[in-house]
Amino acid sequence: MNIGLMTSGGDAPGMNACIRAITRMALHHNLQITGILGGYQGILNKQFSPLHTNSVANIIKAGGTILKTARFADFHQGSVRKKAHEILKAESIDALICIGGDGSFAGLRAFGQENNFPCIGIPATIDNDISGTDYTIGFDTAVNTALDAIDRIRDTATSHDRLFIVEVMGRDSGFIALDVGIAGGAEEIFTPEKPLPLDIVIDHIKKSMARGKKSSILITAEGQKPGRAYDLAEAIRKKSGFESKVCILGHIQRGGAPTARDRVLASRLGAAAIDCLMQNQSGLMLGIQNEKIVTQSLDLVGQKKKQLSNELLSLAQILSA
Ligand code: F6P
Repeated sequence: MNIGLMTSGGDAPGMNACIRAITRMALHHNLQITGILGGYQGILNKQFSPLHTNSVANIIKAGGTILKTARFADFHQGSVRKKAHEILKAESIDALICIGGDGSFAGLRAFGQENNFPCIGIPATIDNDISGTDYTIGFDTAVNTALDAIDRIRDTATSHDRLFIVEVMGRDSGFIALDVGIAGGAEEIFTPEKPLPLDIVIDHIKKSMARGKKSSILITAEGQKPGRAYDLAEAIRKKSGFESKVCILGHIQRGGAPTARDRVLASRLGAAAIDCLMQNQSGLMLGIQNEKIVTQSLDLVGQKKKQLSNELLSLAQILSA
């Protein structure tokens, strides 16, 4: 078997650890592995490169992806997928592993079904917004990167008695915001899933000031509109007169060396992808649930929005006094 391997969508720390695991596990079983450069577009551009043991040496600790990545909306078109299939056949590639987010898996599912082509998806996105897996590759690193920044902001916020609003990534999901909010002791956490009424937030800040608290950090997920922290700061100013400093962490959360947790997750998922293909299992997304590697049909990916934990939401509320 010759397996095509690509990364697709936004990069996530740990993608390289996953590429390494897939390559080494495939070679261990005497399978061929071909890197596809630049996601789905790389198939159309015929950017292929065989991977060997040495190709993946020393990449486990590197952020980003050695295979490059892209968002390629054209892959939603059947004609583009047909062309991609012809190219993969001509390259003698007979299975495809895609490391990416749920947008990438929609194209993968259609491609696999239309062409009866073995496909496996491995969830990697800092957003952790894919149902069917407790964690995605990259989430833990992004949370720790954001937390490091928030801890630093806490120092200056305390020294100056300031109110800060820190915006984290996550698109329309609040997983990063909720975890860093709890870990960073945030006074309020704004998530797209559970909007907080501004009056309640302001009341909360006033009460904590009355108790002698002089600085606060509010965490907001970016939501559909990156930069919303500025809108929030303005809305708070208008309603209460409180001035705040805004800090948008942005793409800094996507880079850097993956944490041990992400490297182990990426290694386990990568190895499991090869196991699946060897057992003729395909059309699947791998994941981790309760520390065990699990599979689910690609058909189910994106069907259900992954929910924030109510337990964590109420914990955040109680602890943010
Ligand atoms: O999906 C990962 C993510 O980093 C989101 O949190 C963010 O909204 C988006 O990608 C940014 O995408 P891009 O780098 O393409 O602007």
